[in-house]
Amino acid sequence: MKGIILAGGKATRIRPVTDVLSKQILPIYDKPMIYYPLSVLMLAGIKDILLISTPEFTPSFEELLGDGARFGIHIKYKIQKEANGLAQAFIIGEEFVNKEPCALILGDNILWGEELEGKLKKAVKNVEEGFVTVFCRQVDTPADFGVAVYNEKTGIVSKLVEKPTKYVSNEAVIGLYFYDSKACDYAKTLTPSARGELEITDLNKKYVEEKALKAIPLKKEEFEWNDAGSFEGLFKASEQVRLSQNNGAMIASPDEIAFQKGWISQTDLLKIAQKYGKSKYGEYLEDVARKSRVDDKKADDTMSLDFLDELK
Ligand code: TTP
Repeated sequence: MKGIILAGGKATRIRPVTDVLSKQILPIYDKPMIYYPLSVLMLAGIKDILLISTPEFTPSFEELLGDGARFGIHIKYKIQKEANGLAQAFIIGEEFVNKEPCALILGDNILWGEELEGKLKKAVKNVEEGFVTVFCRQVDTPADFGVAVYNEKTGIVSKLVEKPTKYVSNEAVIGLYFYDSKACDYAKTLTPSARGELEITDLNKKYVEEKALKAIPLKKEEFEWNDAGSFEGLFKASEQVRLSQNNGAMIASPDEIAFQKGWISQTDLLKIAQKYGKSKYGEYLEDVARKSRVDDKKADDTMSLDFLDELK
């Protein structure tokens, strides 16, 4: 399974902040927004990632994340010249996807929960069994979202409606999707919507027609989810991360996830912690590394640590 992070867009709702900064670099409490979707893909076990952003801001992401070696993964970059819609990710990313299954996450989706890894594994399994998978969240304002109607037992989606004008469902489809190898071919058949975009809902409808789309619900009691595209969303997401981290564990540290997955060694993690010095992030990583009982020899120690010089 490969993964795409879509981190372009116009970010008109949070201007003028985004005149010179990418939305997905802005902090969500104590780390850059992009760490959150990156962590979700890594939790799903995905090590091959394509980040798509604007011509203006792609270099910022390259500088921040590099080629992914620090996390024991591979990150590539592609530019989306104009914000022509979410489904364009599978046209821009066709060569990267290379006819393999691929997840897509939107760069401003902030999602976490103790059981998240299990749900992500379920999505990967669904795709292996022939079902493309979306995640749903009950919302109070369904008219603002794309919503799904699905069978509670099987999860199979029977209907998708983009911004419904009359009630069909309050289950919003959030910005995380697990596709099979046909997504790029289907994306190429789409035509722009009334607002001039290649809509992800139209791509998903192709799978609804085939009865090959499943939904996994993410209950409010178990998962935190925020679309951090507005000032209100940015503030709420930061506040929730701050509160959730009160118990000590950090949310969405790709360095910690890489270590826990065995993609980097204890020595690697300690070096990264050192580079971040006395910041809270550095101290946390050092704590994680020192408390761990992971046998360093078992971890892959062959990664390139050249990036560490750049972190100075
Ligand atoms: P949106 O929040 O729908 O759009 P936006 O980020 O441009 O913000 P605004 O509505 O304030 O103008 O986009 C959701 C995510 O998808 C966000 O991370 C940006 C990304 N995106 C792209 O990368 N390319 C696109 O063509 C679109 C439409 C969105």
